[in-house]
Order: sequence, then C-alpha cells, then structure tokens
Amino acid sequence: MEQAKGFPKDFLWGGAAAAMQIEGAYNVDGRGFSISDVFTFDPTLDKKHWLDQWHMMTHAQVNEALDPNSTKNYPKRRGNDFYHRYEEDINLLVPRWVLNASALPFPGHVFSRMATRQNPMRKGCNSMTRFLMPCWYQGIEPVISLTHYDMPLYLVTEYGGWKNRKLIEFFVRFAETVFTRYKNKVKYWITFNEMNCVKHHPFVSAGIIEENHPNLEQDKYQSAHHQFIASALAVKACHEIIPNSQIGCMISYLLLYPNTCNPDDVLECQKEERVSFFFSDVQARGYYPSYTARMFKEKGVVLHKEPGDDEILRDNLVDFVSLSYYMSNNASATADQHAKASGNLIGGVKNPYLEQSEWGWQIDPKGLRYALNNLYDRYQKPLFISENGVGATDQMSPDGTINDDYRIDYLKKHIEQMREAIEDGVDLFGYTAWGPIDMISASTSQASKRYGFVYVDQDDLGNGTLNRYKKKSFDWYKKVIESGGEVL
Ligand code: BG6
Repeated sequence: MEQAKGFPKDFLWGGAAAAMQIEGAYNVDGRGFSISDVFTFDPTLDKKHWLDQWHMMTHAQVNEALDPNSTKNYPKRRGNDFYHRYEEDINLLVPRWVLNASALPFPGHVFSRMATRQNPMRKGCNSMTRFLMPCWYQGIEPVISLTHYDMPLYLVTEYGGWKNRKLIEFFVRFAETVFTRYKNKVKYWITFNEMNCVKHHPFVSAGIIEENHPNLEQDKYQSAHHQFIASALAVKACHEIIPNSQIGCMISYLLLYPNTCNPDDVLECQKEERVSFFFSDVQARGYYPSYTARMFKEKGVVLHKEPGDDEILRDNLVDFVSLSYYMSNNASATADQHAKASGNLIGGVKNPYLEQSEWGWQIDPKGLRYALNNLYDRYQKPLFISENGVGATDQMSPDGTINDDYRIDYLKKHIEQMREAIEDGVDLFGYTAWGPIDMISASTSQASKRYGFVYVDQDDLGNGTLNRYKKKSFDWYKKVIESGGEVL
C-alpha cells in the first residue's frame, strides 16, 4: 500500500453536497421556490439540450415553473429526499468526516422568507439546526456555504436578481443571522459557491434571465460587484460575530492550457483565465485588478460603485480560497477550428493527452496539482478543495454491489496530486469530495449522473425506492479518511 507523505494531521477530509440537489421537499415547511426548482428534465431531449438549459433560462420557463398546474418534471424539487432522510444519511458518514454542507440545508429557505418579510428566520434556522445536530453528535465538522445556486426565485421575479443592489442588504442580514445562531458551533464558512460562474450561467449564479437581454455583460458584472460587496460584508460580520472563524471565497477552477505554444493561444489562455481569476482576485486581494480596466472596456461594461465600496473590499479579505476542480480544457485563439470537450459550466478545446468521463469532461489529476500551485502562488492564502469528483452511470449488480472502481481511480489520482502539491509547499487544509450521496446533477438535472459513495435508488423520472446502498468506493474513502490520507 502506498504511504502518503504530505497530509497534515489536522487535514479536513469529507464530502460536499448542495441543498438544491439533495434536499427535495420543495413545498414543505413554508419553503418558497428557489431558482433550482425551475430546471426540468425531459428524456426526449438530447444531452446537449440539457446542458444548454443550465446556461440559459427564459421568462416562459420561469412562468411555467410557477404555474401550479405545470406537468413538467422538476427533479431538483425532489432531490434525493435528504430533507426527510438526513439522519440516516448523516449516520452513514464516519466521525472525522467533514461535511461541506453547501447551503445545507436551508439557507436559501431562510433567505427566501427574509425576502418575503414573513417570520424571517425562525423556521429556516430550526430546520438547519435539525440537520446540524447529528453532525455535532457524530463529531463531523460542518463547512457551510451561505448560498449554492439556490437564491429564492422571488428575488428574480420581484427584484431582477443580483443586478439589484438591494440584495446586498438581504444577503448580509441573512448571513448575520446565521452567524449569530451558529457562532459556537460552526467555524468554517464559504460565502458564494463558484462566484466566477456568473459569466457562464447568469441565471443560476445571479438570477439574471438571459433571454432578449439588452445589456447582458453590464448586468453580469454589476451583479458580480454586488456579490463582492455582499461577500465582503459577510466576511466582516463573520469575523465580528465569530472571532475564531475562517471564511473563504470559492471559485470553480476552470483550468486552461494554451492549445499550442503559439503566442496567440497563450494570450487567449491568459485572457480566458482572468475571467475566472478576477473573482478570487477581488476577494483575496481586496481590489479590482488592473487588467479589469481593459476587460470592462472591451465588453462595454461601466461599473456603478457607491462611495465606500472600495474600502469595504479592501478591509474585508477572505481567510482562505476554496475551489471546485473537475477537469481541464485547452484555450485557443482559433477555438472554432478544433474538436471540443465538454463541462457543466464551460467546455473548451479538446486535449489529446487526456481521457474523458462519460459526460465528456476531461480527467486531469495532474492539472489539480498545477491549479493548487497556481492559486497558492497568486494569493499565499490557505486553500480548500470544496468539490472534486466524477459523474458516472453506476450499475448495481444482481448481488446488490456497486463496483465503482473508476470513481476510486479518479479520486485516488487526484488525492495523490494534492499530496504532491502539499509537498510543493501549498498550504492545503481540506478536501471535500463531491458528493457523498447520489443527488440530482446541477447541469443536466439527471439522477443517473452519479457522484456518490452511496447509491440512491432513483431514476431520472423520479422512480425508485430512494433506498441507500454503499458502493465499493464508500469503504475505500472511509479508509482514506481514517488513515488521514495514508492509505489510498
Ligand atoms: C459544480 C457545482 O460546479 O459541479 C455542483 O457546484 C455540481 O453543484 C458539480 O453538482 C457537478 O456538476 P454536475 O452538473 O455534474 O452536477
């Protein structure tokens, strides 16, 4: 057996999930619709269309989703029924797991009630406590993301999403309430999930309906500015309310390589990379980087800032930077002329050296080492991998076993590269694999795109018992955690 060299003793190991993909119970306990409840799954459409839907939302789709007589299939409303099975699910985890409870389970719920000004916090917080209790009992350290693609739909239809500055106030009030309530119990927090993705899917990230939008780029970056301010004020509140807390930002690390050593490709790669780095640059360094001046000019963006905004950003830096990492792509100045690889947020030019997952995502463990080194060089702040994993169509054998060796292989190779990055000098303090229990895919709304160590008996149409079964990877990952990464 291989011996790990570099993982610190207090390294945080665990799994991550998002409320919008597991919770279900969309109409229970006073919960309102969130933006994720609008996405449908239609088996008659091809895979390409499911991905397009994630990128693009229309007014007609939103109106249909709000119609109580709609007969469409909305899988995220079902999730995997974690809302009712949370005790069983959490009891499956072992002590020393960290549950990166991205927005788990109800901040969106709380946020929504606040926005509608009804009995703002009580029910939402009670629900969250209900979920957190067994975590504390089991010795599981929660890491909570304040929001993960689950803003209340009401904030889209009534306020126009994050382009409305009013949302800063709502978000900060929500954050302060949650911090106050859990100040003695939760140390690690993340503000926004994958904030850089507003560029690629403005509806799920910022509540912007793209269809016939007159000035999309302007609204995307204005929304991002509001989220930066909201995030910085949440950091401030967190530090004031919970003195020993650690609060971070999060980006989807969309790793890019230049397709060739042609300087045009190299420059294109740098340009595309900056569209993502921009988001962690502002939150980790506290100011808009100089390259944004030209970037905004070329996009016709004129940012509206209020007096004091620059100081808020400067004075409230995140303590750590977290990232999701699934794949890499190539960037080319002549991208249209090359074969493509896929992804949930963004695809790119195909890399001939890499294999692809069933969904066409390029598998690149060494890219993770490169990404971690890059981020650490850039910020010199502790790093946390909040998502990493592979979606696959797992099959249950007649004897009830699920032999997901490909998942073990994927995770093992990525963990090895994390270890290498630590040896390189990177301060990496935690890793939460996506996601411990099968859930609904964010991008395709399928239940059959599975990431979990635990199999959930449910198909894309919601048929199945919802019973849970441990996969082969479950015992493997349990050993990884119990050995602190020594046994891979
Ligand atoms: C991340 C999202 O980008 O990718 C998750 O934060 C998502 O919510 C994960 O589930 C995997 O993507 P998908 O589309 O396969 O579920």
